[in-house]
Amino acid sequence: MKKVALGVSSSIGIYKACEVVRGFQKNGVEVQVVMTRNAARLISPLLFSGLSGTTTIVGLFEEPMARTVGHISLAKEIALLCVAPATANVIGKFSGGVADDFLSTLFLASRAPVLIAPAMNEAMYLHPQTQANIARLRALGVEFVEPEKGYLACGDEGWGRLAEPESIVKEGLRLIGRTASLKGKTVLVTAGPTREHLDPVRFLSNPSSGKMGYELAREAVARGAEVILVSGPTSLVPPAGARTEFVRTAAEMQEACLRAFPKADIVVMAAAVSDFRFKDVRTRKAGKAEVGPALAVEKTPDILALLGGKKRPGQFLVGFAAETHDILAHARKKLVAKKADLMVANAVGEGEGFGTDDNAVRIIAASRPVQVTGLLSKLETSRVIFDRIEAALEKKRR
Ligand SMILES: Cc1cc2nc3c(=O)[nH]c(=O)nc-3n(C[C@H](O)[C@H](O)[C@H](O)COP(=O)(O)O)c2cc1C
Repeated sequence: MKKVALGVSSSIGIYKACEVVRGFQKNGVEVQVVMTRNAARLISPLLFSGLSGTTTIVGLFEEPMARTVGHISLAKEIALLCVAPATANVIGKFSGGVADDFLSTLFLASRAPVLIAPAMNEAMYLHPQTQANIARLRALGVEFVEPEKGYLACGDEGWGRLAEPESIVKEGLRLIGRTASLKGKTVLVTAGPTREHLDPVRFLSNPSSGKMGYELAREAVARGAEVILVSGPTSLVPPAGARTEFVRTAAEMQEACLRAFPKADIVVMAAAVSDFRFKDVRTRKAGKAEVGPALAVEKTPDILALLGGKKRPGQFLVGFAAETHDILAHARKKLVAKKADLMVANAVGEGEGFGTDDNAVRIIAASRPVQVTGLLSKLETSRVIFDRIEAALEKKRR
């Protein structure tokens, strides 16, 4: 049985949290309610204990939670952390990494998806600080159920009313379902640049940071897949749960991909493979006078095209195209030439593409309208890409 931690904070919308508990239970999900101290001043924790069938947690330092380090054990058990209603204060604390009570500590300790349903007065909700906190959390992968417009308890009319419990539960169930949507599948992701050395101190490369590929690998792990990440040189921490293989050159990346390819159900080639390498590679540092004549280059292997040619039925291949101009035309050509199922194209420069935290992509498939995303964090972009892959696989299955 899946378990949800339902965070309840001290918003006037707190009465609707009872319906959220019921909604999850009706769908076979166990609920552990975690209230803030202020929430417990508005409604007795006993009400939620009675509804959920489990003692409501309020304090971080109370028995038995303190003795069993309850925030860590609960963090490992849950399939979702849902906060409904979420006060401006809770959103601010999550955004700032403050961990001064059970709920905010649980947020930092958990790797489960997080769903927040804000509820507050319109001025508080639209305050630039609250909006900045929400934007920061979204970029970190937290999902929101938008509040509704209507009559607010303070007598004002406007945005800020807690979304209806059914919408919150529906979204929560979707996020729980997503944690297993790629279960049983093996996903191969490539990331980062490659380096083609001239000699031990000089190489040909590109500014790829590897962030897009690492986020894709992280998202595939979050959806329950077995993940093999083949990474060129980056300064990133490898995603937990993925098997990461480090390579340096295009030839090494090709070798690693060919090894993993037969096992893979989905292949996402997000690496920026250097397309040229030096013909004359020196094992010792070349003197300045030698460098000029040694600069002749040759093409590196086209890994995407190679895999496209070897693809077995049912294997899903996604390529990336980073372009400075004629983005769609170039990406469409690559889609066909490399026998990929999807091409993700992005512009390079102006806050997008290489080295940035955000990306805006166009997703191209044969004879389908182009899907355009706005500027999203690379984590959000990876979710859009996997949603699209899953939808295409589902369509193939039918
Ligand atoms: C009756 C009452 C209703 C409140 N409603 C809200 C609300 O809807 N949203 C909100 O962000 N704060 C609301 N507040 C203010 C919060 O309770 C306050 O910011 C508190 O410090 C938040 O604590 P907590 O986030 O730990 O629960 C309300 C306060 C009171 C007294």
